[in-house]
Amino acid sequence: MSDIIKIKEEYLLKLKDDLDLNNINQIKSELFGKTGKISNEFKKMGSMSSDSRKKFASELNVIKDELQETIEKKIKDIEIKEINLKLQNEKVDVTLPERSFKRGKIHPVSQVIDEISSIFSEIGFSVAEGPDVENEYNNFTALNTPDNHPARDMHDTFYLDDNKEYLLRTHTSPVQVRTMLGGKPPFKIIAPGRTYRSDSDQTHAPMFHQVEGLHIDKNINMGHLKGCLNYFIKEFFEIDKIKMRFRPSHFPFTEPSAEVDIGYTLKDGKIIIGEGDKWLEILGCGMVHPNVLKNVKVDPQKFQGYAFGMGIDRLAMLKYGINDLRAFFETDYRWLNHFGFDPLDVPSNYRGLSR
Ligand code: DAH
Repeated sequence: MSDIIKIKEEYLLKLKDDLDLNNINQIKSELFGKTGKISNEFKKMGSMSSDSRKKFASELNVIKDELQETIEKKIKDIEIKEINLKLQNEKVDVTLPERSFKRGKIHPVSQVIDEISSIFSEIGFSVAEGPDVENEYNNFTALNTPDNHPARDMHDTFYLDDNKEYLLRTHTSPVQVRTMLGGKPPFKIIAPGRTYRSDSDQTHAPMFHQVEGLHIDKNINMGHLKGCLNYFIKEFFEIDKIKMRFRPSHFPFTEPSAEVDIGYTLKDGKIIIGEGDKWLEILGCGMVHPNVLKNVKVDPQKFQGYAFGMGIDRLAMLKYGINDLRAFFETDYRWLNHFGFDPLDVPSNYRGLSR
């Protein structure tokens, strides 16, 4: 048997084995590489007589073609095999039953923040935000509450450094300062968010939520404040008539200052808002103190306005009949399942503010 037939037989046999693409590449280079067996045979032709060269060349070409065709076919086979294996492994059985899953609920505080934002946006307020970690200036000094002012003690502040320079904001009022320092009047914002005080019992948690309101423009007076709060309370509690009273109070950042109470009664242990002769305090408010306006570079001769701050958790408890504030923050899945909101539940006064 001639050398080239031997090569052919040997490799046709090899190509019958169970091979992968690496093996095939190896075979290709053994045969057709620079010093491959077939390539070497072609090199031999140079020293042959023209007659034998012709014959040898035609035989060698036939063998070369046969080996190449066999190799190509083998590669195709391997590829088809791989595709079939993939299809087999990745196939989806659409007849299997679906996996069970837990659906989340919206926390009452988030729900109420959405409701409040949507109600105020109806009358032109936009939503502003500020950081939980504040500096002493924004939280107190700019709000006309200088060092040693007794109001600072009332706040049971969590300070973050020995110099009492940084703290966890004790109210959302510093967002007033940030908003006014960062822009030009008029301002009409609400600022919902987390607030912190070192306090804990059935109605107080060290972390709680407030919403601040601020409206500064030319010729704004207490009548505007009253109208705005009256509208909000009616919309929030979804009642047409409310009883509301302004009680004189004191806040360093407003003059005059007031606390607002709403009328309620108890029926079968449930709070009914808008009826009866009992009063419930729900917020603090007033006309922004000229000193605050000066501190944030707003001219109190040209601009004035009102501000208010209320506890969101308290509002959520009242509206949705929840009586222990601490449960809000215990992350008990069963509690959330009971008091939480389905993401698709749309309260009747909800005006489509997207989450
Ligand atoms: N920041 C006050 C507090 O936490 C609430 C408050 C009262 C905010 C009067 C105001 C305001 O904007 O005008 O007790």
